[in-house]
Amino acid sequence: MKSSIYDCTILPLNKIHNRAGNITIVEAGINVPFDVKRIYYLYDIPGGEDRGGHAHKGLFQLIVAASGSFDVLLDDGINKKIVSLNRPDYGLMVVPGIWRELLEFSSGAICLVLASEEYRVDDYIRVHEDFLNYKMGIEV
Ligand code: TYD
Repeated sequence: MKSSIYDCTILPLNKIHNRAGNITIVEAGINVPFDVKRIYYLYDIPGGEDRGGHAHKGLFQLIVAASGSFDVLLDDGINKKIVSLNRPDYGLMVVPGIWRELLEFSSGAICLVLASEEYRVDDYIRVHEDFLNYKMGIEV
């Protein structure tokens, strides 16, 4: 699995603004480059708690700070970077084979995730050492 953190890009979404507020529309194949089979969101995250801490073997995701802010640590086994998300009209696309951690949630933050596949336990790699082996081509 040769994906790198540099394959994980910030995608600008649209924003239609009027006096009564904003709306952002996410459409598979138009502003997100994969079919969306599942949507979930993280909320009511207690102060100081982290989420994520895993990689996926085949899943593409678009991560959006629908409200508030948080950081996403991306790790491809060689390079790491932290992306701060704080705008509902931008999304971070995370490709398969990237270890991610979600950190520094602001109070009331909502992390919206659009995912390319159904939930499958065997798509997860939850141990970082297993992830490093996976990146070196060792079956986990
Ligand atoms: P998990 O992916 O570990 O959350 P995070 O990485 O954000 O900390 O999921 C938390 C729990 O929710 C875990 O028991 C699996 C379950 N879950 C589902 O049943 N379906 C899903 O689509 C997702 C994303 C999680």
